[in-house]
Amino acid sequence: MKKVTLLLMVSALVSLVGCSKTDNYTPAENISGEDIFYTNCTKCHKPESGSVMTLSAAVANKDAIIQKMHKGSMSMPAFPNIKGEPAQRLAEFILSNSKTK
Ligand code: HEC
Repeated sequence: MKKVTLLLMVSALVSLVGCSKTDNYTPAENISGEDIFYTNCTKCHKPESGSVMTLSAAVANKDAIIQKMHKGSMSMPAFPNIKGEPAQRLAEFILSNSKTK
């Protein structure tokens, strides 16, 4: 019985820590930015009233979006494999469909 409790605690911890991990998703070379976004980002970034994200002014440019995606943070996984053309298309999609706060 104790072992089961321990196992449950460990798996709960792992899934919590899981959020700051690396996501190894690799996009197909010809995928659209929109498809990448809806496959990977809407788990946490819920589109509302026609805009997919609300960006702070400091992040409202392509380089910053791609950098954020590659680094991740405590609460966001890093996506190091979204790069090159697909990353450009994703950043463009986010920029043209987001509000800036
Ligand atoms: C597991 C949840 C999660 C997933 C999946 C996720 N994010 Fe995030 N993201 C967050 C959280 C939470 C924040 C705000 C806190 C922070 O900056 O760490 C954030 C912040 C951001 C920011 C900065 C916004 C700002 O104005 O500061 C960008 C850009 C971003 N995410 C892009 C993406 C993209 C692109 C994807 C998909 C490839 C993605 N995120 C997937 C949780 C997630």
